[in-house]
Amino acid sequence: MIKLNFNSEIDKKGGAKLLKEIAMDPMGGWLMLPKEIDTGEFVRIKEAAKEIRDSSEYLVCIGIGGSYLGHRAIIEALRPQSETKIIYAGNSLSKRELDWALDKVGDHDFSVNVISKSGTTLEPAIAFAAFKEKLIQKYGEEGAYQRMYATTDAKKGALHDEAAACGYKMFVVPDNIGGRYSVLTAVGLLPMAVAGVDVDKLLEGASDAIETAVEPALRYATMRFSLDGRRYDTEIFASFEPATMYFNEWLKQLFGESEGKDKRGILPDSVIYSTDLHSLGQYIQDGRRNLFETIIDYPTDEMNAKVVKAVQMAHAEGGIPVLTIGVPSFDEKGFGELIYFFELSCALSAKMIGVNPFDQPGVEAYKTKLKELLAE
Ligand code: PA5
Repeated sequence: MIKLNFNSEIDKKGGAKLLKEIAMDPMGGWLMLPKEIDTGEFVRIKEAAKEIRDSSEYLVCIGIGGSYLGHRAIIEALRPQSETKIIYAGNSLSKRELDWALDKVGDHDFSVNVISKSGTTLEPAIAFAAFKEKLIQKYGEEGAYQRMYATTDAKKGALHDEAAACGYKMFVVPDNIGGRYSVLTAVGLLPMAVAGVDVDKLLEGASDAIETAVEPALRYATMRFSLDGRRYDTEIFASFEPATMYFNEWLKQLFGESEGKDKRGILPDSVIYSTDLHSLGQYIQDGRRNLFETIIDYPTDEMNAKVVKAVQMAHAEGGIPVLTIGVPSFDEKGFGELIYFFELSCALSAKMIGVNPFDQPGVEAYKTKLKELLAE
């Protein structure tokens, strides 16, 4: 169970009302997902994962934002064993990165999992075009189509239409789950299963959290809300395990896109200690006092545990509110719980400050401008 080292006066009745609002929201499908996962789809995901592992040395995962950060976070943290290596593409518009990924795959056998809910996002679309060409060159059109796995909307979008027309295997991002809340759908489950993550255990952890995480999430969201009210406008997510760097990235996206709107929201940032004690550590200890720190305390070795204590003490003395979230285990179950805890905390936090946790108008603004520039 997630353990918090801080207390906050929670309004249980108010919390229950917010939970009800989330459950009723057209984008609140993630709330019960771990218990209500479509078993037919889950079986297809595991079959596809086996097929990919049997046929491919590489799986190229193409996607950006919520379509990639969650599964990368878990795969990088747990370093599972699989003969099939995961390569990421389509998460920037850098030609250098794309060329690197194409070169890395080289002449090896590979498959592609292209992930885009809208099916229209530019970054994955460009990378997919390049890898599709490579697949066709290597395996011919029919062989290539058998190595393409599309995770997208059930009914609409350019990717959906192409996948349906060409017969790629298709997996669904449910209508009622947005990108950054989708890691426990096919978006994350297929790449994680290929990489060797025990996805049953991950879902088990998340499923347990449906009951156990409610009170800690409400406590954490309430504490964030009160700190925000006291002008602490920056939250530093701190971890002492370097392998969780991408979990921090997922957290920044989750909170940044969910809360940062209508000129409101806490700015999320992240550090890995002790590494960053030798860089941002100075600012955190001594700089402007507008930030609070949320330590994600994974089970760790004795030496590292001492660093956790030292940081908690030094930063508290430096005038920083330090919140600590204790993670029960560094495995699939622990991460399942943690994912659910943060998704719930984030949605509750956004509701408390009065913004919609499930839209991202700011991301759309950049997409529109880029399209205008490219049209010129
Ligand atoms: O969380 C979100 O909704 C976004 O980060 C999206 O995941 C991201 O913009 C990618 O969108 P799509 O999956 O439609 O390509």
